[in-house]
Amino acid sequence: MALAVSDPRWSAVDDYIAGKLIGEDAALAAALADNRRAGLPAIDVSPAQGKLLQLLAKGVGARRILEIGTLGGYSTIWLARALEPDGRLVTLELDPAYAAVARMNIDQAGVGDLVEIRIGPACDTLADLCGGDDASFDFIFVDADKENYAAYLGYAIRLSRPGTMLVFDNVVREGEVMNPQSDDPKVPGTRQLYDALQDNRRIDATAIQTVGSKKWDGFLLALVQ
Ligand code: SAH
Ligand code: DHB
Ligand code: MG
Repeated sequence: MALAVSDPRWSAVDDYIAGKLIGEDAALAAALADNRRAGLPAIDVSPAQGKLLQLLAKGVGARRILEIGTLGGYSTIWLARALEPDGRLVTLELDPAYAAVARMNIDQAGVGDLVEIRIGPACDTLADLCGGDDASFDFIFVDADKENYAAYLGYAIRLSRPGTMLVFDNVVREGEVMNPQSDDPKVPGTRQLYDALQDNRRIDATAIQTVGSKKWDGFLLALVQ
């Protein structure tokens, strides 16, 4: 990446926010510890971001949630806790070893009955979901390989209903997203997502830049009409 901008105050403020508004949670802390012990990359959402996802999912009254990119299940646990007891979360993960860590973390957090992990390339699983019986979700969080973000948008639309909220992670990438010549290989896929949403009358979208313990990045939020 061209430059790694960071300011120690970003993490300090995240700690302040977490101390005031989020608090300690044994299952979430254990999930992060297990992920690091298992050698998973530390690219889970931050506590403040996990809580944001949970508030958004609760706010739209989500009963069915789809997540693309499970890793060790940290964001999955945040989202599953937004569900009512009869809710359901389907999360898609390429790597079976990551999925095994996630399964353990999700079960230990007490939301195992609500969560189904589907292993394999997400595009394949999404195509299967499109042909399935209950192919409609209220909230969709996209956080897997950025190269496929435009394809994931297409599937997300097919798996949505009017009012479904879509959230994409990592859409700013330290500002590199606006650089068509970026040497960050994840940038072109992210730019294709913006291109697909530009002038899309069916989807209302914005993106919000964030700084914090996950450095300078952002979320794209969209509502399907
Ligand atoms: N949402 C997680 C972080 C996900 S990191 C959290 O915040 O806790 C991105 C994940 O996407 C990784 O686990 C990676 O293995 C997975 N991934 C990458 N390519 C994928 C693909 N083609 N299909 C499904 N998952 C994929
Ligand atoms: C990366 C992926 C993520 O989902 C994230 O939140 C941060 C970094 C990455 O692949 O580098
Ligand atoms: Mg991410």
